[in-house]
Amino acid sequence: MTLSPSKPATASAFHGWPGLIERYRAYLPVSAQTPVVTLHEGNTPLIPAPAIAARIGRGVRVWLKYDGLNPTGSFKDRGMTLAISKAKEAGAAAVICASTGNTSAAAAAYARRAGLRAFVLIPEGYVALGKLAQALLYGAEVIAIRGSFDRALAMVRELATQYPVTLVNSVNPYRLEGQKTAAFEIVEALGDAPDWLCIPVGNAGNITAYWMGFNQYHSEGLAARLPRMMGFEAAGSAPIVLGKIVEHPETLATAIRIGNPANWQRALAVQEASGGAFGAVSDEEILDAYRLLAAEEGIFCEPASAASVAGLLKVKDQVPAEARVVCVLTGNGLKDPDSAIKHAEAHFYQGVEPSLAAVAQVMGF
Ligand code: F0G
Repeated sequence: MTLSPSKPATASAFHGWPGLIERYRAYLPVSAQTPVVTLHEGNTPLIPAPAIAARIGRGVRVWLKYDGLNPTGSFKDRGMTLAISKAKEAGAAAVICASTGNTSAAAAAYARRAGLRAFVLIPEGYVALGKLAQALLYGAEVIAIRGSFDRALAMVRELATQYPVTLVNSVNPYRLEGQKTAAFEIVEALGDAPDWLCIPVGNAGNITAYWMGFNQYHSEGLAARLPRMMGFEAAGSAPIVLGKIVEHPETLATAIRIGNPANWQRALAVQEASGGAFGAVSDEEILDAYRLLAAEEGIFCEPASAASVAGLLKVKDQVPAEARVVCVLTGNGLKDPDSAIKHAEAHFYQGVEPSLAAVAQVMGF
């Protein structure tokens, strides 16, 4: 077999994935003047999940939108490529966000790539190690407050009105415009929208963005139907399910440890328009899904992401027969190594003698 000779590597000969803004330019609020700040995010795989489907039965098919494969390891890159490009276009010199970790990593990476300062406020002690490591190494100016994410968000909203810094949390409309592209990719992969879309909910930006994306493709005639939007909060941090602000949210899924979501009203509108529902999943249910995803599907996501699968399994009897279901896996498991090590039901034999006999004995031979 002969390989065809490779083409010369000139800029015009680049045929790789160009990133979200170039791919979906016609559907995004950009112009020829917009400086495109990209890490070639998006184009993440939609992976069949037969082990999860088998637990539901009745011909239901399940796919996982593995957005943890984005450049900084979460779906936030989709929103940040656009938010930072637009901030740069507007002449900003600095951006700011509050974050449970992933937004700060993405904001830092894209802002620094654009030559902007990135300030991030995080709730001290409640950000997974990998996310903190990213923000620090990407060169953000990290401010850990002795308070919750909700407090940090209220503060950055205020700071952005008083100082020359652009807010890049999901209250920035460009964030949701970028994130809606995940829905486009799902429709392209399946040939239509799924019947159900299951998604973890924190600040409720992403569920809002997906709904925007599905609707846009639907009105363009690129999707024949719209999905039911199924949003899942962690039980200890479930303001939308409870219908009231949670003053002291708690969950090991720290990414969605949020008691007063910024996009609360929009999320309710999505639920109503899509005929969807919100549900709460316990930390134990999240961990069961987290381990199932890794040990039976071969997919390592972070605990908050597993809430989508935990939620689906919790309401599995309500899934119509033969339905096509997509669960969104929002972040990579490598973000939170502490949770993995602490909660793996692993076979981990330590201090074993370096002899064949000792190892064979541990192996059970
Ligand atoms: N999954 C992960 C891994 C997240 O990091 C987040 C939010 C969500 C789900 C929920 O998405 O807020 O749009 O409903 N993380 C934010 C952050 C809050 O600061 O990184 P949402």
